[in-house]
Amino acid sequence: MSCIWAPPADPANTIESLIIGVSPGISELKYLIRQVAPTNASVIVTGPSGAGKEMVARAIHAESHRAAKSYVAVNCGAIPRELLESELFGHEKGSFTGAVAQRKGRFEEADGGTLFLDEIGDMPADMQVKLLRVLEERTVQRVGGRGEIGVDTRIISATHRDIDEAIEEQRFREDLFYRLSVFPIDILPLCDRREDVPLLVRHFLRQMADSKQVVRFSPAAIDKLAAHNWPGNVRELRNVIERAVILYSGQTVSAEQIELLIARRPRMNRQEREAVWQASAEAAPSIAAEPATPAVSMKDAPVDLRAMVAEMEREQIVEALRLGDGVVAEAARMLSLQRTTLIEKMRKYGLAKA
Ligand SMILES: Nc1ncnc2c1ncn2[C@@H]1O[C@H](COP(=O)(O)OP(=O)(O)OP(=O)(O)O)[C@@H](O)[C@H]1O
Ligand SMILES: [Mg+2]
Repeated sequence: MSCIWAPPADPANTIESLIIGVSPGISELKYLIRQVAPTNASVIVTGPSGAGKEMVARAIHAESHRAAKSYVAVNCGAIPRELLESELFGHEKGSFTGAVAQRKGRFEEADGGTLFLDEIGDMPADMQVKLLRVLEERTVQRVGGRGEIGVDTRIISATHRDIDEAIEEQRFREDLFYRLSVFPIDILPLCDRREDVPLLVRHFLRQMADSKQVVRFSPAAIDKLAAHNWPGNVRELRNVIERAVILYSGQTVSAEQIELLIARRPRMNRQEREAVWQASAEAAPSIAAEPATPAVSMKDAPVDLRAMVAEMEREQIVEALRLGDGVVAEAARMLSLQRTTLIEKMRKYGLAKA
């Protein structure tokens, strides 16, 4: 499935427990969230990939009077055009081939709660028109339905793209943008708030290390983490900490080890590689992971380039599936592949049924 439905917010999900950081950027972000949460204003969250846009949407929902109702997230870029309308607005039985039963749309599911429209910049033009109408009328019409159904749904949208450029090039409707962006929130990249790095490290260690022995970081390692540019922002930092927890439990991680962890392919010995495979298999039980073959040095033996490329491809696919919680469309987006191409490759590597 391309969209995620989350049950009513956990009352323990407060802004302080969700959003970690003390930098001026994060303090302002928390202030803006607290101000806007109790209102019904539509919020658009912008910022680079992995900076925390979805986290902001969850925090707004958690801080609002809607917290006890549903928070529903839809990735507008991951759902095929022909399915998006029924996904958002629902359909009546028999309204199209495959509509075997009546189905509520995400707007109705989020009635009384919050609907998070992720990657809004990817919404097809005709759907933009329909969405605008729904926002204006506060009613939805199911595909194949006649009646209008009233909905009280708060909209939070997000995009990592330059939406202004999309508006200029007339790929995104300006009138819809104004509806969606009553209250805009922009998140700074992590490299512009480095003072948050140590706190984020501690936060992720607490989240991850419960069943394993504690990992410590030397002061030089923390400096190295704070100095890195983090093109993948907080998500990338989280992944590095996760790798450290898998590889160095019970140890103190050095600055040199951080360098290896930050590199896309850390140089690991066989035991370490197997630990990573084991952890990926545990995180995504549907993915059948086999221990990888040990790295071959070209000095000692000729390399099999094709096998190495295939191995790397498989590793990246497993990683994308794990990061995307097994959602193929999400993994395909991360890998810049068509969904069908990814499925083919998953079959090739024994990661999906033939
Ligand atoms: N300030 C923060 N405190 C705690 N966790 C954070 C913070 N910022 C981001 N995260 C975590 O980092 C990860 C990435 O955040 P999120 O998914 O919200 O990013 P995003 O901006 O939506 O990324 P994308 O553009 O790729 O969709 C999540 O696990 C999120 O919980
Ligand atoms: Mg996101």
